[in-house]
Amino acid sequence: MFSRAVRPAVSLARSLSTSSQNNARVAVLGASGGIGQPLSLLLKNSPLVSHLSLYDIAHTPGVAADLSHIETRAQVTGYLGPDQLDAALQGCDVVVIPAGVPRKPGMTRDDLFNTNATIVATLSDACARNCPEAMVLVIANPVNSTIPITSEVMKKRGVYNPNRVFGVTTLDIVRANTFVAELKGLDPARVSVPVIGGHAGKTIIPLISQCTPKVEFPADQLSTLISRIQEAGTEVVKAKAGAGSATLSMAYAGARFTFSVLDALNGKEGVVECAFVRSEETECKYRQTDRRKMKQHVSANKSTPTTALCAKTE
Ligand SMILES: NC(=O)c1ccc[n+]([C@@H]2O[C@H](COP(=O)([O-])OP(=O)(O)OC[C@H]3O[C@@H](n4cnc5c(N)ncnc54)[C@H](O)[C@@H]3O)[C@@H](O)[C@H]2O)c1
Repeated sequence: MFSRAVRPAVSLARSLSTSSQNNARVAVLGASGGIGQPLSLLLKNSPLVSHLSLYDIAHTPGVAADLSHIETRAQVTGYLGPDQLDAALQGCDVVVIPAGVPRKPGMTRDDLFNTNATIVATLSDACARNCPEAMVLVIANPVNSTIPITSEVMKKRGVYNPNRVFGVTTLDIVRANTFVAELKGLDPARVSVPVIGGHAGKTIIPLISQCTPKVEFPADQLSTLISRIQEAGTEVVKAKAGAGSATLSMAYAGARFTFSVLDALNGKEGVVECAFVRSEETECKYRQTDRRKMKQHVSANKSTPTTALCAKTE
């Protein structure tokens, strides 16, 4: 039960404070990568996490050893290569998947499909076999395609629950909040822009008219703002000039979404997040839903105490 009323920065700060406790086992698949390492650091720093399971095909012993020296309660274990994938996933409550190749200048997210589809399918299948009840949070692009892939793999294994599969699109919301705040001279932590649709170019639809607090822009400025939000990932890809795509801001966004899911698993009310999820509301299978109140969802299905929210579609 996620609420846009919970300010992102407040949410992350609360999750990093010592006031709340949880015993969640969280896995990061692709933990050695540009997103995986800072994301793992943020998760290690949270009292909501009791065990951090780090999996990658490279460098996980080093990343796990490094993080394990941080004086927070989460126990850290590293798993390297396909032979250790099953062990990495056993008993996990939440699995975050940033594994996959990122964009280089001139590439669209769809150009990643061939490589990342196989990676995500393999990792999703391992989730289905080892932790079928876990919340699966997919960061790997193209999110518009990796969520249908994860869903179909889960279905094939007979463990698909649409309330447990999320495309992480939080970075679109984080960017929209930041850019609106910059233009209006507001504190970004107090700005909340819902973003619906998909996670690629024009399929990213920021609902500026639904922003809290209410903001207005002249038509030309609005058009420029929307284009910037839609192309913000490409802005980073160009600036990194071949060294990858957004990693630090994505780690922040991924941690924020993970903490919201953990809050929901802990029964916290009034939490809303946007995400790319399966929806039955139109003929489009994966789309935006309105921002459902978690309380209603939990009472409808006590065994799956989390859901999205403000889902996204292409
Ligand atoms: N959802 C979003 O908003 C968003 C934003 C930015 C990037 N991304 C996506 O996140 C993904 C990762 O980006 P990055 O910058 O961290 O890339 P990266 O290349 O820095 O890291 C990827 C990691 O995945 C690992 N990996 C590759 N194949 C694997 C496998 N089969 N199993 C486990 N691990 C494997 C690599 O060893 C590497 O450590 C990309 O697909 C990128 O497009 C998504």
